[in-house]
Amino acid sequence: MTQNQYLLAGQASELDRLQLQSRVWEPAGRRLLAEIGEGDGARVLDVGCGAMGWLRVLSEWVGPNGEVVGTDIDDGMLSAADQFVSTEGLRNVALIKDDLFASDLDAESFDLVHARFQMAPLGRADAQMESYLRLVRPGGIVVLEDLDPGSWHFNPPPTPALDELIARLGDVFERWGDPYVSRRQLELFRDYGIEANVRADVEALPPGHPYLRLPLQFATGLEAGLLTFMDQEKLDQLRNEAENELEQPGRWGTTFTLVQSWGQRAA
Ligand SMILES: C[S@@+](CC[C@H](N)C(=O)[O-])C[C@H]1O[C@@H](n2cnc3c(N)ncnc32)[C@H](O)[C@@H]1O
Repeated sequence: MTQNQYLLAGQASELDRLQLQSRVWEPAGRRLLAEIGEGDGARVLDVGCGAMGWLRVLSEWVGPNGEVVGTDIDDGMLSAADQFVSTEGLRNVALIKDDLFASDLDAESFDLVHARFQMAPLGRADAQMESYLRLVRPGGIVVLEDLDPGSWHFNPPPTPALDELIARLGDVFERWGDPYVSRRQLELFRDYGIEANVRADVEALPPGHPYLRLPLQFATGLEAGLLTFMDQEKLDQLRNEAENELEQPGRWGTTFTLVQSWGQRAA
């Protein structure tokens, strides 16, 4: 696995995980866009939109006179996103295969560029920021969203296996990506001369919520990475214990923190 490769590329389970995750975070996306202001008629980009990303919230935000472009490097993601867009009847959304590090999209052609969960897994914050700033028009907005694992808990404690799984997943991200990039979002904007705004969201997950299973879903997608930190027997044991902890009646949790920042490119 090279540093630039998306950690979870080519996994069928990843499509379902991303759609569930996108639904969980849609309210936070809508709140952020409301704070940014009116989007009617805007042309906007969701970079690395995955299987759903912000396509629906952006489609609502720009309205029938606006245009949403979703890009991804992965054909499987794009076809899942295409199916989602058709099912939802999102007529103002177009999907394009594009590599954010060598983009064929026209420079300065978007009013808003959004990138969620791109910097943590890809770990190339500067190259990514440069790409987003090339695509947004002067005076346009760049939105970054990434996670901070600090609030990711299962209640009531203790849940040692789930906690350890999360810690080891952090090790995997640390080796191949940048798991704490969310904490540097404002500094990153400042490096490019932009004073950005920031907000953060944590969701409570009641008993039975499917997003409680995120550590186990990651453990499937990132198995090869986890096996560089432990052997198969230990991983299987950790998974079984984590499953048992999740199955305890009444088990609920809080998500990781979604850190959202947005800044305006100089006009
Ligand atoms: C963690 S997923 C996030 C998907 C989506 N933004 C969301 O929040 O649901 C990262 C996405 O980035 C895509 N990706 C990875 N490398 C990319 C690149 N060089 N250019 C464009 N997309 C890329 C992956 O295929 C994947 O769909």
